[in-house]
Amino acid sequence: MTDKNIVLIGFMGSGKSSLGKLLAHELNLKYIDTDEEIERQNNMEISEIFDTYGEEYFRKLERDYCERISLSGGNVIATGGGIIKNEVNISHLKKNGVIIYIKASKEKILDNIKDDNTRPLLLTDDKSGAIERLLHERTPLYERFGDFCIDVTSLSLEDAFLNLYKTVVLL
Ligand code: S3P
Repeated sequence: MTDKNIVLIGFMGSGKSSLGKLLAHELNLKYIDTDEEIERQNNMEISEIFDTYGEEYFRKLERDYCERISLSGGNVIATGGGIIKNEVNISHLKKNGVIIYIKASKEKILDNIKDDNTRPLLLTDDKSGAIERLLHERTPLYERFGDFCIDVTSLSLEDAFLNLYKTVVLL
């Protein structure tokens, strides 16, 4: 087992947070969600940050947080789906972390987030189209930056967790 950070990347609604919490609990590590930290530090919800200051500003907060968290180890970190948009984030996270890509199909993502209105990039009447476009743009980045990939598309949360756990204990 590593004393590095275990960093989960992947698209919105792929299950990073649920899996990250289970993993942290099982391994007795601290669980960190980059979005929650940004919300806490700014005392604003992500959607409010997007509405008030725009996406660029949110990306700056995300970048600053990645830099800060790379100074500590032994955390399970669930990242926002857009963290891979800036390679600097990945360099920070890789400094002291192993990156695991949680992969899910468009259908599974859509099913997971269909009733969710907290994600500004998916606030549209055509959620399916928005997911498809972003997946097209981002999948090569998730694939490139992940040290490991776990495809959870046809797995229950329990089975996805078992796969993740097996990957992590071998590190
Ligand atoms: C985003 C994903 C969200 C959040 C923000 C932007 C993205 O996090 O950071 O709404 O660009 O994919 P989750 O992946 O936890 O939903």
